[in-house]
Amino acid sequence: MVDIVVRHFEHSDLPAMLETRRTSIRRICAHDYDHDQIMAWAPDIDDVEAQATRFAKTQTWVALVNGNAAGFMNLAEGGYVDCLYVHADHQRCGIASALLSMLEKTARAQGVSRLYSEVSITARPFFERQGFAVTTPQTVTVNGQQYLNFRMEKMLR
Ligand SMILES: CC(C)(COP(=O)(O)OP(=O)(O)OC[C@H]1O[C@@H](n2cnc3c(N)ncnc32)[C@H](O)[C@@H]1OP(=O)(O)O)[C@@H](O)C(=O)NCCC(=O)NCCS
Repeated sequence: MVDIVVRHFEHSDLPAMLETRRTSIRRICAHDYDHDQIMAWAPDIDDVEAQATRFAKTQTWVALVNGNAAGFMNLAEGGYVDCLYVHADHQRCGIASALLSMLEKTARAQGVSRLYSEVSITARPFFERQGFAVTTPQTVTVNGQQYLNFRMEKMLR
């Protein structure tokens, strides 16, 4: 049984979060997207400041396993679930579920009635399991590459 602690993001978490994001995309999303898509999504060099600003401007939570950041998730204005990544070495241990539970609890307390996101092929089964439904499949462009993903939503009651 994995001991998971979810807490707010701190700036010092950034290196571990970027490592989590890279392994997650390169080893897990690579099952569903091709090499060029993966390398455009998770290039060798991160725009660290852009990511730091993104997390600082949203409500961002980090999941710690044995004291190390192994996943993160954030909530932006209007109920938009912006990012969710779990380290490739810690898949299917309940980390994303723990993060979403915290996010939903917070959103409800803040009066948010609807969560929505743009979800990868890879993450779709997780979000469906958590009560989200696909509203629209869509193609988005990131760093010159096109990606199929899904707009999904969940009403909070
Ligand atoms: C999607 C993701 C965040 C799920 O994280 P996780 O911590 O492994 O998820 P959990 O352990 O909390 O999973 C809870 C349940 O969701 C479902 N689920 C999760 N991943 C699944 C998968 N790949 N296929 C089918 N069901 C899945 C299962 O029902 C699972 O319960 P179980 O393990 O007891 O069967 C993780 O796989 C990931 O980082 N993916 C790559 C990054 C990504 O695509 N992020 C989203 C960008 S939009």
